[in-house]
Amino acid sequence: MKYKNLDQLFRQTARKLSFSACPFIEARLFIQKAAGWDEIEFFHQLDRPVPPGVLAKLDRLVRMRQAGWPVAYILGKKEFWSLEFRVNRWVLIPRPETELVVEKALGLPLPESPQILDAGTGCGNLAISLAKEIPAARVTASDISRRALQIASWNAKNLGVKNVKFVHTDGLEYFISRKKRFHLIVSNPPYVSENEWHKLDPPVRDFEPRIALVAGPTGVEFIQRLIGEAFECLTPGGFLVFEFGAGQEEKILQHFREGWQETAVHLDYSGRPRVITARKAG
Ligand SMILES: C[S@@+](CC[C@H](N)C(=O)[O-])C[C@H]1O[C@@H](n2cnc3c(N)ncnc32)[C@H](O)[C@@H]1O
Repeated sequence: MKYKNLDQLFRQTARKLSFSACPFIEARLFIQKAAGWDEIEFFHQLDRPVPPGVLAKLDRLVRMRQAGWPVAYILGKKEFWSLEFRVNRWVLIPRPETELVVEKALGLPLPESPQILDAGTGCGNLAISLAKEIPAARVTASDISRRALQIASWNAKNLGVKNVKFVHTDGLEYFISRKKRFHLIVSNPPYVSENEWHKLDPPVRDFEPRIALVAGPTGVEFIQRLIGEAFECLTPGGFLVFEFGAGQEEKILQHFREGWQETAVHLDYSGRPRVITARKAG
């Protein structure tokens, strides 16, 4: 089909994406990606002819979306804490709710140059956001997925962050064996149960890494382990801050035994319990 101008292509693309909740936004983002434009350039070009090469590239992006791919994987990026992170199918797409982990962490009474660990870093969103906010911090980002660590390390370089290092480990084993201690451990761990995974939205279940989502039969297996391992790796008075799944708080709170204090459950902006903070006794 021949298009009179970009505006006509824009409207036609949005029609093809009418199954999505935001067809016009997606149409614009895909055209921007196909043409290599930012938002300002896009609106500037609306009454001009469609540049050569854009149609074929755009067609591929629209077909991916029609096949169920999440927008962030198609664009190869996702915003978190006002920073742009590269993402692909090896990492979970950062969710806005997870920003509450950063917010809660930044409200804690930490030393001036805290040692911080992000356990299960994925694309590095928590580690890098904290490293930017606390330039004097020494941040470690760990994951069991080497491919995730590659993306996270790319993101750190791309965002000009130098105070993060990356460690491959199962849980916190690497740090326990080396007697490493942190003032703060943050995590957005896998917390979906095997049964829940089958019922997740298809774009999540079919495209995002299972290892990033599923913890085991109950969903709290990783969190239970995290509480135990974090206790070993925190300095006296150190903090643990992590996200958890809907309805898990009671089960999780049982795992905070003697030696923990100031345990608190925090609601997200939709009023749902989302983040737990706790402190190792000093
Ligand atoms: C829910 S994703 C969180 C990613 C990212 N921090 C975020 O907020 O979007 C959980 C991460 O934990 C990692 N993970 C899963 N099992 C692990 C394990 N046993 N040890 C270390 N990391 C693990 C996954 O590879 C994944 O990157």
